[in-house]
Amino acid sequence: MDLSWNDRRTRQFLTNVGLITSDGPNGPNVMAAEWTHHISYSPSLIAINIRGRDTTAENIIDSKEFGANLAAEDQNILCSLAGRYSGKHLDKIAFFKEIGVVFYKANKIKALLIRGAAMNAECKLIRQEEIGDHIMFVGEIIEITADENIKPLVYHNGKYWKLGDNLPSPRQEILDGINQFANKYQKSSVK
Ligand SMILES: Cc1cc2nc3c(=O)[nH]c(=O)nc-3n(C[C@H](O)[C@H](O)[C@H](O)COP(=O)(O)O)c2cc1C
Repeated sequence: MDLSWNDRRTRQFLTNVGLITSDGPNGPNVMAAEWTHHISYSPSLIAINIRGRDTTAENIIDSKEFGANLAAEDQNILCSLAGRYSGKHLDKIAFFKEIGVVFYKANKIKALLIRGAAMNAECKLIRQEEIGDHIMFVGEIIEITADENIKPLVYHNGKYWKLGDNLPSPRQEILDGINQFANKYQKSSVK
């Protein structure tokens, strides 16, 4: 089936916002991508799903690299602006610098990184695949920094949110009790 971008049912998902930086035939650029996910530890991979006509997609296809800057709680306006304008028509980097966003040079890729993000990863493209109406770019992380004191921005139902209260995990004695109970349902092959 097809579901529109604002279908209320798919808006139940919780995501983060990746500020994806790139540098290629369209020049340095940044866009917002809620479909930014860590999908493997070893090697450590990040997948982003981006429309093929976007400036960012063209830059990544050509340069084979991108920066994944995980937006911080106070970068919601930056996310909206990075997602509102196309890098084909606007020099977003120059514009954002003018309004106070700080970009800095990456160690191993040409794309700039964003100061104040919850995480900054430099990625080398290892795979790209057209899936549905977006292209999935998978990048191997070749450099990463994160500041635990900076909380990532939450995206849900088309709105930005802050992380809420932390819910406790079950205590060990409760887990032990549950384990005894779960044992009753072990499948014969693993008994
Ligand atoms: C919060 C937010 C999240 C977004 N997530 C995505 C996404 O995951 N994938 C995508 O293709 N576009 C996404 N967009 C839309 C792009 O950011 C938008 O099309 C942008 O203008 C593309 O910029 P570019 O052409 O300079 O690359 C999102 C926009 C916003 C505001």
